Amino acid sequence: MLNIIICGAPGCGKGTQSDLIVGKYNLKHLSTGDLLRKEIAEKSELGITAESYISKGNLVPDEMIINILSKNIEAFDNDINGMILDGFPRTVAQAEALQTMLSNSGKEISTLLDLSVEKDELIDRLLKRGQTSGRSDDNLETIQKRLEVYELQTAPVSDFYKKLGKYAAVDGMGSVEEIFGRIASILDSKK
Ligand code: AP5
Repeated sequence: MLNIIICGAPGCGKGTQSDLIVGKYNLKHLSTGDLLRKEIAEKSELGITAESYISKGNLVPDEMIINILSKNIEAFDNDINGMILDGFPRTVAQAEALQTMLSNSGKEISTLLDLSVEKDELIDRLLKRGQTSGRSDDNLETIQKRLEVYELQTAPVSDFYKKLGKYAAVDGMGSVEEIFGRIASILDSKK
């Protein structure tokens, strides 16, 4: 079973590369950003609370996101090829909760893929997407805040997986195809 975490700063290409990884390795894809945006679109109680954090560029509280994620993981059959977690864990507390969640069901993380992209390129990609996506967090002020939050709260998650020997740095600059080639060579060595 190939259980992957894909992480990196906002706009690094987590969603784009996840779609390609799912296509090649036939994995289940869980994006916490997509799950939250679905709740927002449905105007659920959770969605209304989440939007107040997301639109300001802050993370939603750990307890809320751990709850959503654990329900989704529990719903997977045991015979899947594996899963890709996109945008989770984003804090060390979430990483610890994930370890417990997986070990309770006899699963483990194969590797964390950490996509690195220069800051100017991240901002450029997100501003371009903001012109068509309608995402309330794709404006310059919120992007700057998301990048700060990433450095403070999410970057330390890499150390957590480095200590477990489950960390792979990926150069996230270049074309989508070039980056996918780098990822595929890492994942092929894990199969
Ligand atoms: P989330 O949806 O995860 O947003 P994000 O981390 O800010 O990442 P993005 O979706 O903006 O970018 P991405 O890295 O997926 O890049 P993409 O492939 O789309 O989370 C949103 C919010 O939800 C968070 O801020 C937080 O509030 C909350 N949240 C989510 N998870 C949480 C958690 N675990 N805990 C707490 N809160 C949580 O690419 C971006 C753009 O670039 C696209 O237009 C794409 O076409 C383009 N692009 C991609 N690759 C390339 C390339 N190689 N060259 C040129 N353009 C490219």
